[in-house]
Amino acid sequence: MRLDGQTRLYAGLAAAPEARRRALLGHLAAELGRPEADIAIERDPFGKPRLTDPHLKYWFNCSSVDGLLLIASSRTGPVGADIETVQRCIPVWEDASATFAPAERARLTALPPPDRALAFARLWTAKEAVLKARGTGIVHGLAEPALAHLDDLSAPPPWRPIQMHVGGECYAVTWYTLPIDEVLVIAARAETSPKPGTT
Ligand SMILES: CC(C)(COP(=O)(O)OP(=O)(O)OC[C@H]1O[C@@H](n2cnc3c(N)ncnc32)[C@H](O)[C@@H]1OP(=O)(O)O)[C@@H](O)C(=O)NCCC(=O)NCCS
Repeated sequence: MRLDGQTRLYAGLAAAPEARRRALLGHLAAELGRPEADIAIERDPFGKPRLTDPHLKYWFNCSSVDGLLLIASSRTGPVGADIETVQRCIPVWEDASATFAPAERARLTALPPPDRALAFARLWTAKEAVLKARGTGIVHGLAEPALAHLDDLSAPPPWRPIQMHVGGECYAVTWYTLPIDEVLVIAARAETSPKPGTT
């Protein structure tokens, strides 16, 4: 399923890592117009997968949950992806948001209880997508990038894209929300964006 020109969602995959690997290889082969056998993937020192041949100038990042595989790609620079379901967030949002900045956690707990897991998923996927675009993952926690200023945290989707700042970089974040088999899926992609005033 095409979420936009550079973001795809594959559904119905088996849980095994091999199923995700095959889907990714097929995706990259189609995108790059090459046989799968010619696609070589390596991992950077933080574990982020990338094409072995940097001359291809093609960046990608993956995230998976419950048989879904999100693949975000870019022809211009590093990209990050994250996917969750609201159902998975319901039992964990309270503990998981302990890794957020205190102001973000305060905003979540101020929401009406039925809105909290969805708002948490919105923050979590955006933060993870940005940290995966950076390549560091979540080893340093999720307080940064900061999202406490986000307007109307209880608004239902669709949510308009935002820009987030971390480590001196600016990232454009786009969310995709869609029901699949009666489950609400929240996906986010992040990529570096020119800083305001530098274009
Ligand atoms: C990467 C990370 C965010 C995964 O999050 P998750 O919610 O468990 O899983 P997701 O499905 O969203 O993402 C997993 C995918 O992210 C990608 N990935 C792995 N490391 C990554 C990194 N450092 N940066 C960006 N993407 C990464 C891979 O494609 C991985 O899929 P795979 O395991 O099937 O290859 C988390 O494991 C993390 O923070 N890792 C930190 C990096 C790390 O510990 N490195 C160890 C060596 S220093």
